[in-house]
Amino acid sequence: MLTYIFPKNFIWGAITSSYQIEGAWNEDGKGESIWDRQSHTPEKMKNNVTGDIACDHYHRYQGDIKVMKELGLKSYSFSISWPRIFPTGRGQPNQKGIDFYKKLIDELVANNIKPCITLNHWDLPQKLQDIGGWANRDVTDYFQQYAELMFQNFGEMVPIWLTHSEPWIVAFFGYASKTKYSVAPGLNDFSTALLVSYNLLLSHGKAVQTYRKLGCKGEIGISLDIEHAYPVTKKVEDREATYRYDGHVHRWFLDPIFNGTFPQDILEWLEERVVMPTINEEDLKIINSPIDFLGVNYYSSNFIRYKDEWPLDFEEGKKGDLPTNSSGWEIYPEGLYDLLIRLDRDYNGVKIIITENGSCFTDSVTQTGEVIDDERLKFISMNLEQAHRAIKSGVNLAGYYVWSFIDNLEWQYGYEWRFGLVYIDYKTQARIIKKSGHWYRTVMQNNGF
Ligand code: GCO
Repeated sequence: MLTYIFPKNFIWGAITSSYQIEGAWNEDGKGESIWDRQSHTPEKMKNNVTGDIACDHYHRYQGDIKVMKELGLKSYSFSISWPRIFPTGRGQPNQKGIDFYKKLIDELVANNIKPCITLNHWDLPQKLQDIGGWANRDVTDYFQQYAELMFQNFGEMVPIWLTHSEPWIVAFFGYASKTKYSVAPGLNDFSTALLVSYNLLLSHGKAVQTYRKLGCKGEIGISLDIEHAYPVTKKVEDREATYRYDGHVHRWFLDPIFNGTFPQDILEWLEERVVMPTINEEDLKIINSPIDFLGVNYYSSNFIRYKDEWPLDFEEGKKGDLPTNSSGWEIYPEGLYDLLIRLDRDYNGVKIIITENGSCFTDSVTQTGEVIDDERLKFISMNLEQAHRAIKSGVNLAGYYVWSFIDNLEWQYGYEWRFGLVYIDYKTQARIIKKSGHWYRTVMQNNGF
């Protein structure tokens, strides 16, 4: 007997990203990405790890698709490495790069696994960083040209597209970063980060318009990292700070995409504090190009308190009484329900796909060669319960992807944080489906649990 039955045609899948799994960082004509540059610079990554080999997926993709098949994945979401396609970010494309993704997609389709592509999952060509990266408006045109080539090549085979993954992180952790190990390119200037967020939005809109212009038949959206925000206390200053946090991290992206305006309260708050990008009406129209669904990446919730600092007068705290995963993130599945309800209410019943949800725990292989990751299994099932509850409440939730299909490089933090449904032994590159993976197969098979 199933307790939670999902709607017919619900999309079930798992996701990865190019830099985190592919390796082959300089093969077959691939250009350098900002993550290659960062990881080849001493002391920029924890333990000086690199993605030079990672899961060696570039060479092992066929074996990996066999594992997907064993896992019963209905859909596989991955990203394209822009510098594999355009080694310098623009100009002449690299046919070998295109060929790799063509083989990958053909093999997925032959195995009845629906491909979903993200165009930008953070690994910008270094040559474009050399001209300012996302702070340079020209890069929005190069992104559009890259998107166009991908739609022309793969538009017919691939039914689901995402322009960007987590643009807030790219902008504010990449360009206004104060931590030792940061997101590439690891710059620290808040006004530049704001400009970057604006250009990322603009490039998103340009790619969506290109997708429509070409008459592609699939669906296109964007993945935002949206984690429901709650005040740490009932104090007015904490509640106001929470609203501003939500404005800065979430509404700053959601409002222009869905309503064609930046949130007024955040504009006023920022204008008093920093140099603003020039916001122009024509750009807003492009950013506001209708999308087919919103991708939501949900891991935890944010508990916010006021803090008298510049430029941000709030900080993330902890609820305190919640269990945590091995990276210290609080586990709060109810936040997913609150978030889905809120997005549905504030953005007019928008169609939503959970494009990432998952958690890292310290996994180990038993003597009999199994990985018994009960905590992850529980994490996924609790989040799915909340997703189901939201569907029952009327939210138009169309799909769910686990981060991640396989363990992989957790960016600047290295390989210790394991998120996979499939364990990777990095010494031998062996793949082992974890207990959570076996359980997830039955969920996908039964369309519920
Ligand atoms: C993203 C995420 C992933 C992370 C995952 C776990 O941009 O989609 O940052 O790349 O690996 O969220 O932290």
